[in-house]
Amino acid sequence: MNVLVTGGAGYIGSHTALALLEAGHSVTVLDNLTNSSTVALQRVEALSGRPVNFVNGDILDSTLLDTIFSSQSIDAVLHFAGLKAVGESAAEPLTYFINNVTGSLTLCNAMKKANVFNLVFSSSATVYGEPTSMPISEDFETGAPTNPYGRSKLMVEECLKDIAASDSRWCIALLRYFNPVGAHSSGMIGENPSGLPNNLLPFISKVAAGKLKELCVFGDDYPTVDGTGMRDYIHVVDLADGHLKALNRIVKSPGVSVWNLGRGEGYTVLQMISAFENATGCKIPYRVVARRSGDIAECWADTYKAQVELGWTALRTVEDMMIDTWRWIRKNPDGYKN
Ligand code: NAD
Ligand code: UD1
Repeated sequence: MNVLVTGGAGYIGSHTALALLEAGHSVTVLDNLTNSSTVALQRVEALSGRPVNFVNGDILDSTLLDTIFSSQSIDAVLHFAGLKAVGESAAEPLTYFINNVTGSLTLCNAMKKANVFNLVFSSSATVYGEPTSMPISEDFETGAPTNPYGRSKLMVEECLKDIAASDSRWCIALLRYFNPVGAHSSGMIGENPSGLPNNLLPFISKVAAGKLKELCVFGDDYPTVDGTGMRDYIHVVDLADGHLKALNRIVKSPGVSVWNLGRGEGYTVLQMISAFENATGCKIPYRVVARRSGDIAECWADTYKAQVELGWTALRTVEDMMIDTWRWIRKNPDGYKN
């Protein structure tokens, strides 16, 4: 297939672009580089031995989208482009709603004009809000994300359901990611957060690399085994593979399909620190501080639906996640700026 990957220079998009190329698909990446670098795409080309057609531009630019769709025959769109910093979304909700929601609608409008109806959307487990039981299956209620970023994901999901209901040609996958971490085993592509990382493993990595003094553990009074927050961490290469499986599946399935992409196993913050220390030999100094606003105690996936319908299971262990993250960080101490 000829696949348009929006946000393909970013963390998950670059790993998925590589998986697409390795599987024989052709890839056009549309990215405005607000949170990424073209070096990631050069490395995807080097790893796959195949070219990426890169367009530097914005999903809000409908003229550019029309040009992309009219200048080549696109079979499907994997839509990663979006802003994802939770704290920033609370400070700048308009920016988030315009970029993530209006951007997605602009993309869908251009797809419809060009008769392209296969779409895989990057959603998040955040759309489930704070469920009362675990594990979370796809039929759980959505509707109470704790921040504007999460609400932007839920809004897009709801819009896509209405769009698909109005026209049976749409084939849409909503992929609800749990906590993507790790890096490609080559150490050539990985997560490259600018500034202070928001997420746990990027923060741990910076402490291990000596760039930050210590990790703040956000609360140890949750109802979990050791009191710290529990999440379902999934290796980004497994996540990328899940996108290929979802893409292959939806081209034959009109309507909207929802799949959780997680491992189905929870790890607490303290367990993640130990796992990192054991896998890398680095000591992670930490201090327990107050809970972070908007955090929930625990969140992990029921993976049954993805297993049965996609034939997909996350294969990589938490140890793999730590080893691959550390290799990426050691090889690229300044991210792509080297
Ligand atoms: P990322 O920031 O590394 O990648 C997103 C890419 O989109 C970046 O390269 C950025 O430059 C680009 N972009 C942003 N706005 C754009 C626009 N208007 N036009 C064109 N390009 C634009 O983030 P990621 O971690 O790879 O996340 C990819 C997607 O998955 C996002 O939609 C994110 O919300 C979603 N998601 C991520 C996580 C996570 O933990 N990383 C979890 C759940 C969902
Ligand atoms: C966060 C976002 C979520 C988003 C996801 C992926 C919040 C409230 N939630 O999820 O909307 O979809 O990232 O981008 O921001 N932790 C620490 N110290 C740290 C960082 C994290 O103790 O410095 C803890 C957290 O309290 C949590 C766990 O580590 O228990 C994982 O945190 P994080 O990596 O930020 O992911 P989520 O909170 O699951």
